[in-house]
Amino acid sequence: MALLPLLFSSLLVVSLAEMSGKIGVNYGREGDNLPSPYESIQIMKSIKVGQIKLNDSNPEILTLLSGTKIHVAVTVPNDDIIRIGSNDSMAEQWVRNNILPHYPDTMIRFVLVGDRVVNSNMDVNGTMEQSLVPAMRGIKSALTAHGVKNVKVSTTLGMDVVQTRFPPSNSTFQSDISDSVMPKLLKFVNGTKSVVFVDVYPYFAWSANPTNISLDFALFGGNITHTDPGSGLVYTNLLDQLLDSVTFAIEKLGFRNIRLAISRTGWPTAGDIDQVGANIYNAATYNRNLIRKMTSKQPLGTPKSPSLIIPTFISSLYDENRKIGPETERHWGMLHTNGTPVYEIDLTGNRKISEYKPLPPAVNNIPYKGKLWCEVAPWVNEMSLPAALSNVCSIDNETCAALAPGKDCYEPVSVVWHASYAFSSYWAKFRSQGAICSFNGLARETTVDPTGRGRCNFPSVTV
Ligand SMILES: *[C@@H]1O[C@H](CO)[C@@H](O)[C@H](O)[C@H]1NC(C)=O
Ligand SMILES: *[C@@H]1O[C@H](CO)[C@@H](O)[C@H](O)[C@H]1NC(C)=O
Ligand SMILES: *[C@@H]1O[C@H](CO)[C@@H](O)[C@H](O)[C@H]1NC(C)=O
Ligand SMILES: *[C@@H]1O[C@H](CO)[C@@H](O)[C@H](O)[C@H]1NC(C)=O
Ligand SMILES: *[C@@H]1O[C@H](CO)[C@@H](O)[C@H](O)[C@H]1NC(C)=O
Ligand SMILES: *[C@@H]1O[C@H](CO)[C@@H](O)[C@H](O)[C@H]1NC(C)=O
Ligand SMILES: *[C@@H]1O[C@H](CO)[C@@H](O)[C@H](O)[C@H]1NC(C)=O
Ligand SMILES: *[C@@H]1O[C@H](CO)[C@@H](O)[C@H](O)[C@H]1NC(C)=O
Repeated sequence: MALLPLLFSSLLVVSLAEMSGKIGVNYGREGDNLPSPYESIQIMKSIKVGQIKLNDSNPEILTLLSGTKIHVAVTVPNDDIIRIGSNDSMAEQWVRNNILPHYPDTMIRFVLVGDRVVNSNMDVNGTMEQSLVPAMRGIKSALTAHGVKNVKVSTTLGMDVVQTRFPPSNSTFQSDISDSVMPKLLKFVNGTKSVVFVDVYPYFAWSANPTNISLDFALFGGNITHTDPGSGLVYTNLLDQLLDSVTFAIEKLGFRNIRLAISRTGWPTAGDIDQVGANIYNAATYNRNLIRKMTSKQPLGTPKSPSLIIPTFISSLYDENRKIGPETERHWGMLHTNGTPVYEIDLTGNRKISEYKPLPPAVNNIPYKGKLWCEVAPWVNEMSLPAALSNVCSIDNETCAALAPGKDCYEPVSVVWHASYAFSSYWAKFRSQGAICSFNGLARETTVDPTGRGRCNFPSVTV
C-alpha cells in the first residue's frame, strides 16, 4: 500500500522534469544595436528567463550558457536539412560539432530541425520537405548513439499548416501535406515521445479579422467564450483555440496525445498606421496573461488537452531593427536594445495582473479608415534614394510615368520628392498583392497627402 503513492509521485516528478514550464524567449539577433551575447545572457538571467530558443547553434552563446540553469532549444538551419537528411553520417557530424561540445553543461533540451519547412514556399520542389523527417531521425539516432537521452528532436510549424481553425474540432491539415509529410513527422514525434512546435500568433489571427474576432478573446480577457459545436469544448481565448485546431488536425491522422509546444508567440508594440492593435497596451496585456497561464502551478493546458505543460517561447527578447517586412516586425521585443523593458513584465508569472502599474491607453485598436500615402521616412539618408528610385521605376512603364520631364509630378526636381511619389505609386498599385510601404526601411505610411498642392496627385491607398 505504501509503495503505490511513492511510485506515482516519482513518475510524476520524472515526467514534469522532462519539460520546463518556465517561460522561454526567442533570443533573436537581427539587430545592429543589440547588447553582446554576454550582456544579453546576464540580462536574461536577471529577468529570470527559463528557456532560450536560438535560430542556430551559435557556439559562443552555447558556451556562455554553460553552467546556467537555462534550458536551450537550438535549431538546425533550413539550409542544412537536405544534406543532413540525405546521409546519416552528416547528422552524426552535426551532433558531434554542435551538441557534444556543449552538452550536458549547457542544458540543451530541444533540437529543432528546420524552421517552418513544412508547407513553406522556400522549397518549391519539395526536396527540403522530403528530407525533413530523415534529418530528424538522423539527428535523434546520433544523439542516442552518444548517450544523449533528454534532448527532444522536433521542428517548427506555422499555423498555415492547418486548413480551418474554427471550430477547432473541424480542423484538418492542408491537403498537400496531410498525406505526405505530416504522417511521417507525427510518427517520428510519437515514436520518440517528442513534441510538435507551432508558431501561434493570436495577434495575426485577430488583426486579419478584427471585426469578427473580439480583442478581449485574443488578449485572454475572459469576457467572451466560444463553444465548439463539434466537440462541446468551451474556449475562453484565441490561443487555446488555435492550439487545439492543431491537435484536432493531428488526431484526424490517427495520432492521440501528441503534445504541443509554442515556438513563437507574442504581440508587437508598434507598427504602421494600417496595422491595427500593435501597441504597448495590448502587447503587455497579451504577454502578461500568457505568462500567468503558462506558469500556473497546476498546468492549465488547453480545453482539448488540459493539465499539460506547454513549453512556450515568447517572441522576442529585443526589438530587432534589421528585420525586414512591415513595421511591426521590428517591434516584437519585450526589451529595448539597451536592455530596459518596453513594459513591465514578470516572466516568473508570480506577479498578479493587478500588481502592474497602469499602461498607456491603446489608441489604435480600431482599424484606421481613410487614405494612406507612402513617403520617404524623415530619418533616411538621401544617398540611398537614387538606387531605390530606379528600382521601383524599372518595374513597369506606369509607376513613375508622372515623374518624366514635363509631366505632372516632375517638379520640384528632388530625389526625395520623386522617391516619395514612386513609393506611393508602387504601393497603391501593388498593395493588394502584398506590397508593403517599407522599401527596406526607406519609407513610412502617412495619412497626410504629401502633395497638398498643384497638378500632381500622389496615388493613395484607401483602407
Ligand atoms: C540567425 O540569426 C543571426 C543573427 O541575426 C543571423 O546572422 C543568422 O543568419 C541566423 N541564422 C539562420 C540560420 O537563420
Ligand atoms: C555520407 O557522408 C560520408 C562522409 O562525408 C561519406 O563518406 C559517405 O560516402 C556518404 N554516404 C553516402 C551514401 O552518400
Ligand atoms: C530541388 O532542389 C534541390 C536543392 O536546391 C536541388 O538539389 C534539386 O536538384 C532540385 N530538384 C529538382 C527536381 O528540381
Ligand atoms: C465541419 O465540417 C463539416 C464537413 O466539412 C461541415 O459539414 C460542417 O458544417 C462543419 N462544421 C462547422 C460548425 O463549421
Ligand atoms: C465576419 O462575419 C460576418 C457574419 O458572420 C461574415 O459575413 C463576414 O464575411 C465575416 N468577415 C470576415 C472578414 O471574415
Ligand atoms: C471585460 O470585463 C471587464 C470586467 O467586467 C471590463 O472591465 C472590461 O472592460 C471588459 N473588456 C472588454 C474588452 O469588454
Ligand atoms: C504512438 O505511440 C504509441 C507508443 O508510445 C503507440 O502505442 C501508438 O500506436 C502510436 N500511434 C500511432 C498512430 O502510431
Ligand atoms: C515600356 O515601354 C517601352 C517603350 O514604349 C516598351 O518597349 C517596353 O516593352 C515597355 N515595358 C513594359 C514593361 O511595359
